[in-house]
Amino acid sequence: MSNYCRLFVVATAILLSMILTRTSHAADSPSDSPDIEHGKATFNTMCGVCHSVQKTGGPGEGPNLVGLVGRKAASQPDFAKYSPALKASNLTWSVETLDRFLVNPMAMVPGTLMPMLIRDDKTRADVIAYLATLKE
Ligand code: HEC
Repeated sequence: MSNYCRLFVVATAILLSMILTRTSHAADSPSDSPDIEHGKATFNTMCGVCHSVQKTGGPGEGPNLVGLVGRKAASQPDFAKYSPALKASNLTWSVETLDRFLVNPMAMVPGTLMPMLIRDDKTRADVIAYLATLKE
C-alpha cells in the first residue's frame, strides 16, 4: 500500500511541476496573453481623464465604460453627447470591433468625437483586455 502512496505522491509532483512550468512560460512571453495591469495603467494615462470606469461618478467628457464589451456603440444612457456618426455606426463592442476602433477611431467611424488612438498592437490588446474586465 505504501508503494502506491509513494507513486501517487511522485505522480502528483510531476503533474504539478508541469502545470507550474506552463504557467510561468505563459507569463514570460508577452506576445501571448494580454497584460491587464499594463492595460489599466495605459488607460489611466490616456483615457481616464474622459472616461469613468465606475458605475457612478468620475469624468463625463466621454461615455462611462462600465459594461462596454457586449453593448451597442453609443448606447450608454447617461451620456448625452454622442456624435451622430457613432450613433449611426450600428456597432456592438467586442474585442474585435474595439481593436479596429481604437487603432484609429476616425477611420472606422468618420465623424466620431472620440479623439484618442492606440497604434501599438500589444498596448491596444492590453487596454482592451482591461476594458473587458469592467463588468456591470
Ligand atoms: C478627450 C476625451 C477622451 C479621451 C482622452 C478618450 N476618449 Fe473615448 N470617447 C470620448 C468621447 C467624447 C466619445 C464619444 C464619441 C462619439 O460619440 O463619437 C468616446 C467614445 C469612446 C468609446 C465608445 C463608447 C460607447 O459607448 O460607444 C470607446 C470604446 C472609447 N471612447 C474608448 C477610449 C479609450 C480606450 C481611450 C484611451 C485610449 C479613450 N477613449 C480616450 C472622449 C475621450
